[in-house]
Amino acid sequence: MARAKSQFVCQSCGATSPKWQGKCEACGEWNTLVEESAKLDLPKGATGGKGGRKIEFVGLKGGEAPPPRRTTGIGELDRVTGGGLVAGSAILVGGDPGIGKSTLLLQAVASLAKNAGCVYVTGEEAVDQVRLRAGRLGLSSASVRLAAATNVRDLVASLDGGSPPDVVVIDSIQTMYADTVDSAPGTVTQVRTCAHELIQVAKRRGFALFLVGHVTKEGTLAGPRVLEHMVDTVLYFEGDRGHQFRILRAVKNRFGPTDEIGVFEMTDLGLQEVANPSALFLAERRGNVSGSCVFAGLEGTRPVLVEIQALVAPSSFGTPRRAVVGWDMARLNMVIAVLEARSGVALGANDVYLNVAGGLRVQEPAADLAVAAALLSALSGDPVPADTVVFGEVGLSGEVRPVAQREVRLKEAGKLGFKAAWAPRPRARGGKPAAKPDIAVADIGHVQDIVGRFGLESLRRTSEGH
Ligand code: TYD
Ligand code: MG
Repeated sequence: MARAKSQFVCQSCGATSPKWQGKCEACGEWNTLVEESAKLDLPKGATGGKGGRKIEFVGLKGGEAPPPRRTTGIGELDRVTGGGLVAGSAILVGGDPGIGKSTLLLQAVASLAKNAGCVYVTGEEAVDQVRLRAGRLGLSSASVRLAAATNVRDLVASLDGGSPPDVVVIDSIQTMYADTVDSAPGTVTQVRTCAHELIQVAKRRGFALFLVGHVTKEGTLAGPRVLEHMVDTVLYFEGDRGHQFRILRAVKNRFGPTDEIGVFEMTDLGLQEVANPSALFLAERRGNVSGSCVFAGLEGTRPVLVEIQALVAPSSFGTPRRAVVGWDMARLNMVIAVLEARSGVALGANDVYLNVAGGLRVQEPAADLAVAAALLSALSGDPVPADTVVFGEVGLSGEVRPVAQREVRLKEAGKLGFKAAWAPRPRARGGKPAAKPDIAVADIGHVQDIVGRFGLESLRRTSEGH
């Protein structure tokens, strides 16, 4: 009999290595390799096709209707899942500990329980703790079947027999264990095995399966990344612990669009949906202050207006500091370099701080121009007009490129009372011209066009530039 082999598995990305290393070579994380017993790999070509069953191949076109969906009654969650839960599908909900995953899913099953059979399995809390939370959220009367369990064999036995439920929540996958695998709960092998078993039952019995997965930096638990390819939908619950806003983001969805976001607010009564995120993100904005600029962004199909704040101060260090919250550091450095090289704005010797207010993470390149405007405003002390929104992608030669969904952004800005916009001209297209927006748009073709709007002449190095 072959000796049981062991291998070292990165708890962050799932890569394996025959020996222990301090750093995972695949993902670059430190101290994430943990010894686990290896399943004996079949030698290559061992099956040779003998004894296999013939598979029936079919055409691409099928007569099947699109899968029926079950709406959760929480509008923001339905939006992110692409219109509700698909029977037999698996949804991974990832996020930092304490961000609100259990709260969200408890609220979701309580709402679904009105016309579906719902099961909530907790491996982290005691039944009484969940009951207490349900009581606080006013959900005690919902007919959710609750259990505290961690053994996947028991779970499969309970879910596979009798009349299956419609929706099952496993909170969290890292606390589950399969007794067939001899590694600790939370390791990659355990997490994968448990998820695989549960997903198989979900597919067989046709219930929607939510798996909660904690994102961990320490590498003591296997992160949700190792499950991403096994599930149909991956949702990440993000937010800043210091803010009450929470953003649910679809990063993978076999049944709908990705990049869609749902916005929630964490209150005493649990998570409340935010129907108009722009109004929320701009709620604390003070008009006419320098270094602040409103970016008309797009999250999925939805326009979202957020405030971008910059602070520029002379540096007392040899290497100036750069700090970014809610945006990409590399992108900030690029915008600074373009302003320097193409418009002669001397920013390089200053400390630069950039913040996206409200805890949103902006990922679009369309924010470049808004960042540039916030920086120029901070440097000059002149505010960006309070009734103006800004968007546009900045290229390396300083040109400002058109971005997608211009009309949608302008319409949202108009709806929230903005009167003007600094934006690139729309891409020239054949066909009918776009509808004229009801706010005044200043065409910006080059970063130079916005530099001229700030009192920067004295700060300008020379007339070098474009
Ligand atoms: P939780 O759902 O337990 O997080 P996770 O499952 O992602 O680890 O949420 C925990 C946090 O949410 C906790 O810090 C308290 C806060 N919270 C509220 O602010 N209001 C509420 O009504 C509830 C239930 C939790
Ligand atoms: Mg939890």
